[in-house]
Amino acid sequence: MTYQQSAPALGGWPDLFGRISRRVDSLLSIPSEIALRAANRAGPDAAKPGLIDQVDLSALNEHDVGIVGALYEMGAAVTTLEALGLPGTPAMMAAADDLQQRLDARYAPHEMARRHTVSARPGDVLARDALLRWALNDRLLDIVEAYIAGPAAYDGLLFYRSHPDGREEGVREWHRDREDSRMLKVAIYLTDVDEAGGPFEMLTPDYQRLVDAREGWKYPVMDSARLETGIPAAVRETGVRTITGKRGTVMFADAARFHHRGKPPTRNHRDAIFHSFFSRSPRHPYCCERSMMTRAQIAAFADTLPARARAAMLWRESLPLRKRLIPPNRVKI
Ligand SMILES: [Fe+2]
Repeated sequence: MTYQQSAPALGGWPDLFGRISRRVDSLLSIPSEIALRAANRAGPDAAKPGLIDQVDLSALNEHDVGIVGALYEMGAAVTTLEALGLPGTPAMMAAADDLQQRLDARYAPHEMARRHTVSARPGDVLARDALLRWALNDRLLDIVEAYIAGPAAYDGLLFYRSHPDGREEGVREWHRDREDSRMLKVAIYLTDVDEAGGPFEMLTPDYQRLVDAREGWKYPVMDSARLETGIPAAVRETGVRTITGKRGTVMFADAARFHHRGKPPTRNHRDAIFHSFFSRSPRHPYCCERSMMTRAQIAAFADTLPARARAAMLWRESLPLRKRLIPPNRVKI
């Protein structure tokens, strides 16, 4: 899911346009909301391997096997850009620096007061395409595909600045992403992220099992009080993983199987990039395409890529027709 760029009621034309636009998004999303419910009446598909020894890891080095192992065990893995050592990292970080400066210049303090989170525009990302290319190199695709257990789709990136206002709303509430039954977010922190700096938080498998038993396989968006309802204290105390880390921390997380949130920052703003991967034929394709890039922009960029990366970028082309007919969901939580 994408971050809601929500605004408190300030009145005036911007507020009115915002409300009309959200209403239009809701109406256009009715078909995909119906399809999502229908697809999940019987629960998630269980066709994916649940154990790491069921997948071929021969292409991976020792560091990368460790990441895949942690994903199978806990649904999340943490490393650093340095330890990962992917080609293209210096160019990617130079592009990230540049984009952070662009956000500094674009968003005046009054704008940040209205929105808890802002994101870079797709044109700004495409003008710094080292950001995208970093995610499409063979080693990262090998890691993703070992976890997805099949060819990967790449859905682009979102580059977020989360403001330190402490508001628990939108993606700062507990939710699971809706694109597929299993997916990976690969996040890079661009600021130092401590407990007060907006760390990513995710449930452990033990906690998640209890939430799924209570809620069913659905997509509730929950505040902390609802999340904790009926959960034993021992699980509440140990069942939330808070991922802090310096600038350059890299996190892999299955945002579909596990409820998660961006903990509201209270002291420092948090800048981060979130790359999104799922299977080549995702369970809910109408809940994908969250990068804000147009299909024409995606096609033009894909033409500059080697074959494997191109196929990951153009995942929609391999969808069966029936899965392409439902218009994309536009609701942001
Ligand atoms: Fe999410």
